[in-house]
Amino acid sequence: MEKDNILEIKNLHVTFYTEDGIVRALQGVEYEVKHNETLGVVGESGCGKSVTSLTIMRLLPKPQAKVEEGQILFRDKETGQEINLLELPEEKMRHVRGNRISMIFQEPMTALNPVYTVGDQIMEAILIHNPETTRQEARKKAIEMLKLVGIPAAEKRVDDYPHQMSGGMRQRVMIAMALSTNPDILIADEPTTALDVTIQAQILDLINRLQEQLGMSIILITHNLGVVAQNADRIAVMYLGRIVEYAPVREIFHDPKHPYTQGLLQSVPRLDRGGLKEPLPGISGNLPSPYNPPPGCKFHPRCPYVMDRCREEEPSAVEISPGHTVRCWLHVKGEKSNE
Ligand SMILES: Nc1ncnc2c1ncn2[C@@H]1O[C@H](COP(=O)(O)OP(=O)(O)OP(=O)(O)O)[C@@H](O)[C@H]1O
Ligand SMILES: [Mg+2]
Repeated sequence: MEKDNILEIKNLHVTFYTEDGIVRALQGVEYEVKHNETLGVVGESGCGKSVTSLTIMRLLPKPQAKVEEGQILFRDKETGQEINLLELPEEKMRHVRGNRISMIFQEPMTALNPVYTVGDQIMEAILIHNPETTRQEARKKAIEMLKLVGIPAAEKRVDDYPHQMSGGMRQRVMIAMALSTNPDILIADEPTTALDVTIQAQILDLINRLQEQLGMSIILITHNLGVVAQNADRIAVMYLGRIVEYAPVREIFHDPKHPYTQGLLQSVPRLDRGGLKEPLPGISGNLPSPYNPPPGCKFHPRCPYVMDRCREEEPSAVEISPGHTVRCWLHVKGEKSNE
């Protein structure tokens, strides 16, 4: 593992075996996360963003999902040790999940338990991961966390049930809960899509501020390139289970190399249009079925620059400048367009 990295995903392949067929959800996904940086992961619905994070957390549904290949290397800050999360015994993984890597989900209502107060739920997270803490200390810490995420009158709201709060507040509670154990990595999977525009911006600001205050790495998953423009250091663009381009945020916006990234940029969905569920105006055609992907480059049926080779052979990732990789025949040296 490189010294600056806290996480390295290497050649990750994940398959779902379902009644309807086989879905190769991830095929050779690779990315790295440095200490205290934000990595943005973007791409259309179904490209594998969530499956990648569920694999990191080892929360893939069993028995349908299978990790066929790959490594997820994580550096434990406490011990400095490198571990492959995919090989960790479940008991140790539980410790990582609570203390070192936290995840917040798209829809906070489904992640919060309606029959317990938000305070009890944050306390529970604290107590599970720090068994020596007293209930009184945990309650104090829960209130402190609610204040930290900007919930007014935290001493009172700590006894609210989730339904007594707005969507934005519930998302703040989820963030409080995720951060209450002081994780090294926060995975935020579409943390704002269920919220309205102004609240989305507030939540993203909050996550940014907490990153500066607490120091942690963030994997920010979104449909929306606009969201990561301001919040990410580097960006991984995914298409049908692959990372097709990976680069510092400036390069993605100023010098995108993959035709898919270029199309995404032409159609940067605005926060007020709620993401990329609609066909992309900058890219013709629809996503192919995951049960029956095209041969060759997975993007070729929609690509304006398609060449013969693209229909037959899949390009591998090529580093075109330091830290900038792209999976496209246009950028393989010696290849020329034959159309
Ligand atoms: N439990 C499952 N059973 C079968 N296939 C699944 C399951 N979960 C995910 N998949 C498939 O894996 C692929 C990747 O899905 P994933 O949820 O990672 O997409 P995503 O990029 O997070 O999309 P979205 O933006 O809609 O959240 C899709 O083809 C999806 O249908
Ligand atoms: Mg998802």
